[in-house]
Amino acid sequence: MQAPGKIILFGEHFVVKGKPALALAVKLYAKSTITVGDDKHILYAKDMDAVVDLDSDNIPEKYKPFKKILEIINEEYGSVKPFKAELSSNIPVAAGMGSSAATAVAFTASLLEYLGVEYERGDVSRIAFEAEKITHGRPSGIDNTVSTYGGFIYYKGGAIERIGIEWPGEYVIVAIDTGIPRNTGEVVRDVLDRYDRFPDVMKPIYDSAEVIVEEAITLLRGGRIREVGELMSINHGLLVAIGVSNKAIEEIRYAMLEEGAYGAKLTGAGRGGIVIGLTPSNYVDRIIYKLMNMGYRRTMKLEPDNNGFAPCPNRGLNSGLSIKTPP
Ligand code: PMV
Repeated sequence: MQAPGKIILFGEHFVVKGKPALALAVKLYAKSTITVGDDKHILYAKDMDAVVDLDSDNIPEKYKPFKKILEIINEEYGSVKPFKAELSSNIPVAAGMGSSAATAVAFTASLLEYLGVEYERGDVSRIAFEAEKITHGRPSGIDNTVSTYGGFIYYKGGAIERIGIEWPGEYVIVAIDTGIPRNTGEVVRDVLDRYDRFPDVMKPIYDSAEVIVEEAITLLRGGRIREVGELMSINHGLLVAIGVSNKAIEEIRYAMLEEGAYGAKLTGAGRGGIVIGLTPSNYVDRIIYKLMNMGYRRTMKLEPDNNGFAPCPNRGLNSGLSIKTPP
């Protein structure tokens, strides 16, 4: 199974205080392939070259979410026979693209498939959310939802709606990695602290962010992409006001705008991670060229994923896994 990563197009941070956000699943994937095992439940994290025995009581912190998923499935669907699960991903880590949620979704779906039980997409999202709580403490739930269903997801106060918008093919979302990792929890805390110290100043900023999300959906539905870009830049201005931009983000943003992007903003927690720009497809190469010359080596053209989790297209090629089993 594979499950997509995501970007937040509008509304990050404001969503923490109950305002809406709009996110989009993108064609970068976490993959999980499960084959029959000998006598253990073995996880092989290919990118880390790490082999983990999920039955052990003493597993590294970062693999605990997968143990949790196995426990929930054992409890709710019946005992899972021994397996070897291989995980891999091309979603940038700690950059605001939902890599941990996508891995949890892919692993959950592949386990349920392996078990051969009936399940709904909602079950996969719910179980992956439990894993996300172990990873992030108090996640909003948007990441596992977007990765499960794909497409555009509107999220407000825990309620989720899949918005049916066709992405117009002549426009592209470009993503540039600042290369600066950040701690989402820490940035969120700083923003909430600023809110508490200046509530009368911050409240209208949050109200404005809400209007941006609602208007962006109308404009996307109407194919008014130039204005969607403009709203992205306005949304970014609000994110500057709440204190989550930095020099690298601004440098990337201005370069994108100078090369013809309709709009650009940070995505996710900010103070690092990814910057996204919305541009007509004929400007993409020059934007990427410029940013590469400025030293930003990790550049991506993002394409929307409309499927959520799904069988890996090359599934047939993965039959002979070479997973080492620890003694
Ligand atoms: O950078 P990410 O993908 O972890 O996004 C964080 C999004 C916030 O709105 C800042 C926090 C949240 O829980 O929604």
